Amino acid sequence: MRTHYCGELNRDHIDQEVILCGWAHRRRDHGGVIFIDLRDNKGLAQIVIDPDTKEAFSTAESIRNEYVLKVTCKVRLRPEGTVNKNLPTGEVEMLASTVEILNASLTPPFMLDDDTITESIRLEHRFIDLRRDQMQKNMKLRYDISKNIRQYLDHESFIEIETPILTRSTPEGARDYLVPSRVHHGEFFALPQSPQLFKQILMVSGFDRYFQIAKCFRDEDLRADRQPEFTQIDIEASFVDEEDIMSIAENMTREMFKKVMDQSLPQSFPRMTYQEAMHRFGSDKPDLRVTLELIELTEEMKDVDFKVFSSAANMDNGRVAALRIPNGAELSRSEIDAYTEFVKIYGAKGLAYIKINDKNLLNEEGLQSPIVKNIHVDALKAIIEKTSAENGDLVFFGADKRTVVNEALGALREKIGHDKKHLTNEPWAPVWIVDFPMFDFDEEGNRWNALHHPFTSPKDGHEGLLETDPGNCLSKAYDMVINGWEVGGGSIRIHQQTVQSKVFKALNISDEEAREKFGFLLDALQYGAPPHGGLAFGLDRLATLLAGADSIRDVIAFPKTQKAQCLMTQAPNMVDEKQLRELHIKVRPTNAERKND
Ligand code: AMO
Ligand code: AMP
Repeated sequence: MRTHYCGELNRDHIDQEVILCGWAHRRRDHGGVIFIDLRDNKGLAQIVIDPDTKEAFSTAESIRNEYVLKVTCKVRLRPEGTVNKNLPTGEVEMLASTVEILNASLTPPFMLDDDTITESIRLEHRFIDLRRDQMQKNMKLRYDISKNIRQYLDHESFIEIETPILTRSTPEGARDYLVPSRVHHGEFFALPQSPQLFKQILMVSGFDRYFQIAKCFRDEDLRADRQPEFTQIDIEASFVDEEDIMSIAENMTREMFKKVMDQSLPQSFPRMTYQEAMHRFGSDKPDLRVTLELIELTEEMKDVDFKVFSSAANMDNGRVAALRIPNGAELSRSEIDAYTEFVKIYGAKGLAYIKINDKNLLNEEGLQSPIVKNIHVDALKAIIEKTSAENGDLVFFGADKRTVVNEALGALREKIGHDKKHLTNEPWAPVWIVDFPMFDFDEEGNRWNALHHPFTSPKDGHEGLLETDPGNCLSKAYDMVINGWEVGGGSIRIHQQTVQSKVFKALNISDEEAREKFGFLLDALQYGAPPHGGLAFGLDRLATLLAGADSIRDVIAFPKTQKAQCLMTQAPNMVDEKQLRELHIKVRPTNAERKND
């Protein structure tokens, strides 16, 4: 139908007769001459329609935005002064001889270059939104990432094997999406939260190196970096240890960044233990571009009069920590108030601070803050020394349960770091977080939960702690974090039934429950399971990072909203009574409906 793409035309095509197809991006009437910016998948070309070409001109007069056109034209240099340097095709224009309307379009709900459109309107009309240049680029980038990774893994002798979508629930810790069975009354499939159990079974079956670009489903609370349906680059290998998997994953990431974006990642990613990450950054996915760090003050605040600090410092699992902001004395009152509101999102009750006027004057004059009068001189000295605060700095404090302080100051650290450019010069700061605990304590349920998943192997020498001190038992799990995003995570698995039983015991999972939930895996492990391990990358997160997008939704063609809906198809939706009956399902009335009855 066409001879060229719009976006590919340049000086080399001058005087050539070309046929172009695409959408009318914009039409301008210029005193007798009509200009149409014709857009296709590769870019824009300026079409000129002269009144002399009568038929073409009269067609052009009826053209509106987003009409689909086929244009026969001749490429010529733009007249001097009209060259558009911002456009790859900006040196040339195409003089049309014929213009054919292949299809009309209703007036689009928004202009493609209007950046002020709300996300819900964009998502509702996603077919238009995806025409935008940025979205076209994001989709191509996403494809390039998966293509590159696939090539890398293929080259490293991994083979792609598909695992089922209709399956049993997998223990990744989120809520399952369930699919009712028509054939088996009252029974349900679960959509996989990850291919975890299947990939382990594939190792038992001798496949040695597996990967899959796999759809995963988790019914969890959504945020900017989470979708209910997302894609993992899922990897598993046999006869490997942590070093093997981390090295494969690291090389794969480095090569992908280079090939897709021409970006260089460090030759070797730094490693940090979970404990160090929580201690210094309040997070197990620290953005290491930000130079600010949390400073421990729990010991020093145990006997101060300021109750907020001393009670947190003396609490089980309490923490008092500081965050020094170089030149922070310049922060305005309203900025400090805004940061105080910000930490409340994370459960902090306040955000005490001291402005350092003169660090040698350990009183209210040198250290400007209402809390200073209730902190004795030794403690003030410790604050200055441990934070290395200088005159003109400001020190923020968090005092609460350790989890609250870590979350609040961890998030504040990144927010101020980006607001005030407390950043390294590194565009990319990857880090491996290692030595995760096996378990974290669920206070509500009063029990230990697997931090990664229950098939993660304890660290060498820590097996005994499974029974005696589960809280201090570390695992062979690792996460890859880049610029504060957990882009991938995995572990070496348990391949021996005896160890697996101990882990279930620590998790308070009875033999019956374990059998009922993952009996097939436990069986498989007893038939010669090789040592194995792996990890999974979040493809959507990698693409978001590389695209520099704000939200994971911008790199997914048809994403769900924060409320887990698709605004374009209006899914989820009600279904016919007949469909429900076939599935043996009766929908319960909502509480409100029940009240109205
Ligand atoms: P995990 O649960 O850590 O591990 O998931 C692996 C990676 O998947 C991405 N990810 C998500 N991306 C978008 N939306 C979500 N809701 C979402 N949840 C997770 C993250 C994360 O690092 N089976 C194990 C992997 C293994 O042990 O091999 C697993 O699923 O980037
Ligand atoms: P108050 O004594 O409640 O007026 O608080 C004095 C200062 O301590 C204020 O700046 C509060 O924002 C701050 N503050 C209160 N609770 C906490 C907390 N848990 N952690 C850090 N600062 C706090």
